[in-house]
Amino acid sequence: MKLNSIVNASGGLIYHWRALHRRRMWSSHLENTRRWLSAWTPHEKQLVLIGPSAGYSLSEEFLHRFHHIVAIDPDPTAKLLFRLRHPNVNFSWSQEDFLTKNGRLWSEGLYFLLDCYPNSSFLFCNIIGQLPLLVSTFEKDLTKWAFAFQTFRKSAQWASYHDSWSVQTKVPPENRDFIQTTHLSIEDSLKKFWTKGLKEHVVDHLTQNLFAEYESKTSWIWQIGGNDYRCVEGVLPSKQDI
Ligand SMILES: C[S@@+](CC[C@H](N)C(=O)[O-])C[C@H]1O[C@@H](n2cnc3c(N)ncnc32)[C@H](O)[C@@H]1O
Repeated sequence: MKLNSIVNASGGLIYHWRALHRRRMWSSHLENTRRWLSAWTPHEKQLVLIGPSAGYSLSEEFLHRFHHIVAIDPDPTAKLLFRLRHPNVNFSWSQEDFLTKNGRLWSEGLYFLLDCYPNSSFLFCNIIGQLPLLVSTFEKDLTKWAFAFQTFRKSAQWASYHDSWSVQTKVPPENRDFIQTTHLSIEDSLKKFWTKGLKEHVVDHLTQNLFAEYESKTSWIWQIGGNDYRCVEGVLPSKQDI
């Protein structure tokens, strides 16, 4: 069991502590994720979750649409908490890392993921927007990885929800509802939630170009901590994909 899996930059013990203590604060994020996922109807009945943690943002109702769940997350404590949170879900757990290797983004890992789990639907569970935090060479590695990710998306049924941008502010958003968007700049996206804009620095999670060709996206605000807000973007495949 590696220490950096238990306490990593995007999950681990601190994340579980937050999830347990901020249930009420996170409830609108859960509801928005549930609503967005209700529009996703892949026909493969094995679901591979990449980065689900304990499945805090996934409803039992959604998971029961699939015959079997494979949860891939390096955090070993997440498996037990997933079992406690979703006691009736038939799942297996893998700690294999298909996204990074030797601290770099791993393009071939995406093809390996397809080979390991044929006839599956893949849900990227708030992991793509964490990659710039986890991989210091993210921008250097991105072109090659983005090409592999595009190939992946054309070869399998998939969906992704991910942090698009984040901001620390004492000003609460005026809008906490779900919005349908096309390709919005971060500034325009921010104004959908904070209509007067904000003075604070907005952190770009560098996911926008990865999904630039998708016309229909859904965004919502997740208040992850007191003054800590994430704009989560949900992207579903277009008709050109499988
Ligand atoms: C921001 S958390 C999101 C957790 C969960 N999807 C949710 O919405 O509550 C990101 C998760 O990705 C996991 N993770 C980190 N690196 C990963 C990797 N290479 N493959 C799969 N999961 C990874 C972390 O352990 C963490 O559980």
